[in-house]
Amino acid sequence: MSVIRVDNTDKTEFDRALEELRGYFSVLSQNKGRPATYSLLTYGCQLNESDSEKLAGMLAEMGLVKSEDSGELAPADVVVMNTCSVRENADRHLFGNLGVFKNFCRKGETSVIAVCGCMMKVPENVEKIRRSYPYVNLVFDPQQLHRFPILLRDALDIGKQSVSVCGEDYIAEDSYFPIERQRRFRALVPIMYGCNNFCTYCIVPYARGRERSRSFGEIMKELEDLASKGYREVMLLGQNVNSYGKGNEDGKTFADILDEASKIKEFSRIRFMSSHPKDLSDRVIDIMADRPNVEKHLHLALQSGSDDVLKRMNRPYTAEGYMKIADYFRSRVEGGSLTTDIIVGFPGETEEDFVKTLEICSRAAFDAAFTFQYSIRPGTKAAEFPDQIPSDVVTERFGRLTKLTNSLSEASCKRLVGQKKEVLIEGISKAGGGVYSGRTISNHLVNFTVPDEIRNSGSFCEDSLEGRLCEVDIQYARPYSVDGVMERFTDGK
Ligand code: SAM
Ligand code: SF4
Ligand code: F3S
Repeated sequence: MSVIRVDNTDKTEFDRALEELRGYFSVLSQNKGRPATYSLLTYGCQLNESDSEKLAGMLAEMGLVKSEDSGELAPADVVVMNTCSVRENADRHLFGNLGVFKNFCRKGETSVIAVCGCMMKVPENVEKIRRSYPYVNLVFDPQQLHRFPILLRDALDIGKQSVSVCGEDYIAEDSYFPIERQRRFRALVPIMYGCNNFCTYCIVPYARGRERSRSFGEIMKELEDLASKGYREVMLLGQNVNSYGKGNEDGKTFADILDEASKIKEFSRIRFMSSHPKDLSDRVIDIMADRPNVEKHLHLALQSGSDDVLKRMNRPYTAEGYMKIADYFRSRVEGGSLTTDIIVGFPGETEEDFVKTLEICSRAAFDAAFTFQYSIRPGTKAAEFPDQIPSDVVTERFGRLTKLTNSLSEASCKRLVGQKKEVLIEGISKAGGGVYSGRTISNHLVNFTVPDEIRNSGSFCEDSLEGRLCEVDIQYARPYSVDGVMERFTDGK
């Protein structure tokens, strides 16, 4: 299957479709006596979040305004559901929600429904929508994000359900899209798409296609542009950022991107997600250690501590190989945090295998872990493996693992107590009550209060706190976050 680069210079059809949709939705607005609205429901990982920022940009260009109704299940004139298929409960979520939107369609509160994202690469899901959800106007897959306006216009023209699921891997540069970024200070920047690793449990390579990397020059141009627009944090995204550049002719690697990006002085934080142990170079860790604006946080999925299980997962490293990277990271990156993903109950996992996972967790002293119960993904190799583990065994092991990883996470938070840490402010804390939140460069979540002398000073303005840097005196540890008191702003504003 070949990779098709979408040429930014030929957007005639894209622009024409946007214009026609603007006309269509302006009639809808007139009929409703208010601006037509959209609601965008995003499930899954940050790559989907990033795709949704582009969908939001295109929806805004169609003349739609974001629905003010709170909650994911509020009606809007146009509803787009960007789905995830990584585990079974993600699938259930979509079909449950589609059922709710049927009522909104019946009452005329919703006129258009489009469903996209990774679930649409699974034929059974598309078939189910065809059969049971005829009021869905458009189904399309993540590879065709750049064709969304064209597909939507054509679907509305023909007036019946349209399904567009292609077998091709496109790559469009970010500059192709209008983008509505979710956060004022943080920009999500995908540097590559797809995955070639085919871990035997995982649907992503089927959903997202073959690995393909954006142009180095285009990424750098986008980063410079983001810096000039006031973004202070960038999140470089890919399923396996360390294999960036394979197949591109300029020989640039992920370390080159980090190196160049870290020279953009406007960025206070350069983050990235995800890394795969098989491709992580020492140079990447060295850059993390040496550049003050590259985050001191490595998310490196272990998946299992048993070499037998790793082999059957098609993860080409051993537990000791993983520990070697972990040890190098700990020795080089002072105060760094190491987080991971772990799957419990992979087919054939014995109690002995599982205990090895617990042991590696303790040895690596993970600062946080995302733990998952193995979920059968039809179409993947592991779905056909014998010895699927009974659910009661999985649940019991999952309980033991999360008990351990929760205690490791709390210990990591406790190590910060008594220290003063620089925090990039993300906004008002979910807890409310004059509490703000942000993250350290090691990605620890910090909730903090602001003393009156700072609050009443000229440099404090609640509306422009997002993206500012301050020093916080850390005083208390919780299992997943720490509490503290702001001491001063450190960004000189
Ligand atoms: N590419 C990333 C990597 O290899 O680190 C992982 C991306 S995946 C979207 C996030 C995590 O979901 C994986 O690391 C894995 O732990 C988990 N996951 C993927 N497939 C799963 C499955 N079938 N059942 C349970 N967890 C799964
Ligand atoms: Fe899935 Fe493995 Fe690719 Fe990560 S590296 S997306 S776990 S196949
Ligand atoms: Fe889900 Fe697709 Fe991401 S399956 S985790 S949204 S790449």
